[in-house]
Amino acid sequence: MSDNRAFNDTMKAVFLEKQEGKLVVREVKIPDPAPNEVLIKMAAAPVNPSDLARIRNAHKEFDLATFIPGLEGSGTVVKAGKGILPRLWLGKRVACSSEYSTSGSWAEYMVTKAGMCFPLGNKVSDEQGSMSLVNPLTALAFIEITKQNKHKALINNAAASALGRMVELLGKKRGIPVINIVRNQTQADQLLQSGSQYILNSSEPSFIHDLATFANDLGATILFDSVCSPLLLKMLDALPDSSSVIIYGNLSGEEQIMVNPRTLIDKGIDISGFFLGNRSKENGLFKNMMNLREVRSLMSSDLNIKVQGTYPLNKAQEAVDIYLGNMSGGKVLLKCTL
Ligand SMILES: NC(=O)c1ccc[n+]([C@@H]2O[C@H](COP(=O)([O-])OP(=O)(O)OC[C@H]3O[C@@H](n4cnc5c(N)ncnc54)[C@H](OP(=O)(O)O)[C@@H]3O)[C@@H](O)[C@H]2O)c1
Repeated sequence: MSDNRAFNDTMKAVFLEKQEGKLVVREVKIPDPAPNEVLIKMAAAPVNPSDLARIRNAHKEFDLATFIPGLEGSGTVVKAGKGILPRLWLGKRVACSSEYSTSGSWAEYMVTKAGMCFPLGNKVSDEQGSMSLVNPLTALAFIEITKQNKHKALINNAAASALGRMVELLGKKRGIPVINIVRNQTQADQLLQSGSQYILNSSEPSFIHDLATFANDLGATILFDSVCSPLLLKMLDALPDSSSVIIYGNLSGEEQIMVNPRTLIDKGIDISGFFLGNRSKENGLFKNMMNLREVRSLMSSDLNIKVQGTYPLNKAQEAVDIYLGNMSGGKVLLKCTL
């Protein structure tokens, strides 16, 4: 094992006090990297919807005494387990995602697989770099899926999200028109101001009619939906025949939604799910590294993710509450020190 600096034996990390309880900071032993793993001194980590869903379900899936939240972040590799990749990353500033429920990014240190880290280079800040895995790679995948399946344009729901802004940016770069669905006029105005061309407000009475018009005019035969509310059923009716629907989130919190089988049969619509983790496994290391290089290059140029606030680890609960109060206001980051 290689170690390029001295540090304490213990670290502060965020834990869930109890089921449906508050996030608190506790002191625990710094984990040691096994072969093919690295220890990262964390710099920053975002609060993402996937973190909140994981925290909500943590009592069913994990031991709360050892569960540390946080699925992605940035930091410096300070210790390397055996293996070529860990040694290669030692001393480097990296973007990283967590492999273990017992070692999340909302901590001073995180142990993860070396294959889940990517060097940030010197043009990307710790803050922007901490958000460079989950959403940018998902946005790249959406554009790739759209192109591979020869859809002329795409529709994205909850498009005022950080991910939505990236899909729009990449769509512009790759010549794919993006129909952005948002849920209120404030979000529609924000998107208009930032240069989006096709924006639909789902709270407008004409929404379904306008969706049908835009989708048919642009040939938008793929819908990416992260809301998954009963409105989806009406949206299916508005899509052109033979469209694809990809569900990638559940922001509505609905446990089930009913679909009219006749709509699927008559219109030949297929519905599937998307999870970045599965996509990354399918891609393999080489393709993932190429995608990460592309993200780093985007982040060094025109991809700048809006941040509404940065909080120390011991204010994790406050950070989550502020984020939940205004998700479209920008990402909330944890600075991984107290
Ligand atoms: N499947 C995957 O692999 C994968 C990967 C990356 C992201 N995602 C998903 O992508 C989505 C966006 O992530 P993000 O990090 O970009 O989010 P974000 O920046 O935090 O933004 C979330 C957006 O969703 C809107 N929203 C929240 N609840 C809603 C509801 N019930 N109906 C309509 N809109 C709602 C928010 O609007 P308000 O401000 O009005 O609340 C906000 O604009 C999330 O669902 C996330 O889980 C999935």
